[in-house]
Amino acid sequence: MVVEVDKRVWQADGEQKGAAVKEMFSEIAPTYDLLNSLLSFNLHHRWRRKAVATLKLPPGGAVLDLCCGTGDFLPPLRRAVGPEGALVGVDFCGPMLERAHKKDPMATLLLADAKAVPLASSVFDGLAVGWGLRNVDDLDRALSECFRVLKPGGRFACLDMARPRGPLGPMAESAFHIVTPILGRLFGRAEAYTYLPKSAARFATREELGHKLESAGFREVRWRDFFLGNVCLHTGVKP
Ligand SMILES: C[S@@+](CC[C@H](N)C(=O)[O-])C[C@H]1O[C@@H](n2cnc3c(N)ncnc32)[C@H](O)[C@@H]1O
Repeated sequence: MVVEVDKRVWQADGEQKGAAVKEMFSEIAPTYDLLNSLLSFNLHHRWRRKAVATLKLPPGGAVLDLCCGTGDFLPPLRRAVGPEGALVGVDFCGPMLERAHKKDPMATLLLADAKAVPLASSVFDGLAVGWGLRNVDDLDRALSECFRVLKPGGRFACLDMARPRGPLGPMAESAFHIVTPILGRLFGRAEAYTYLPKSAARFATREELGHKLESAGFREVRWRDFFLGNVCLHTGVKP
């Protein structure tokens, strides 16, 4: 392990972050889906459906699930493109990817880094990434890969944690920072579920991520909040 948890995974950068994040997800893969559902009150499926709807995927189309993890984006993406569609999942963590196969046995799953996606340019009608970009050690490179693999007119949708705003923001953020590590500890995953709120606090703001998407070349960049602003959906189109 490159970065011990007590040396704060969430403070790591660059290659150190990549190695620590990969190891962390390898460890939590068996309980990832359960904790995801508990922490989101199972609402993540609804947010995924909303994200997939923004992709406006054609039946038979091609779609990439970047940082696909255990593959919870695959079923709604499959419903959108249908059995004839080409669905590809990419993740650099083997134990997470192994679980994705069960969610869509027809999908093509690739063990690869989001910073260097081993796929041709301009091939996808849409790209979804769920709670992935926050973990990548070079966000700009990952975004330029997202842009590269999309066809002109292809749509991008990213769900990730955000810092809650508005009158209930401080309360929602405190609850997230307190409840998440406690729940993680109950499942013996204290470190990973301390990383979750810490990495969310360190992640690009809505506006910063929006600007980065535009810098990568995306247009029609928009975002909307879910879950009192703890979760945010960013969308964009490759012109
Ligand atoms: C929080 S999980 C999200 C999984 C899934 N997308 C979902 O919506 O549940 C983050 C995933 O990003 C993957 N990941 C992080 N950095 C990556 C990178 N540089 N390249 C590929 N996958 C990466 C991790 O292995 C992990 O499976």
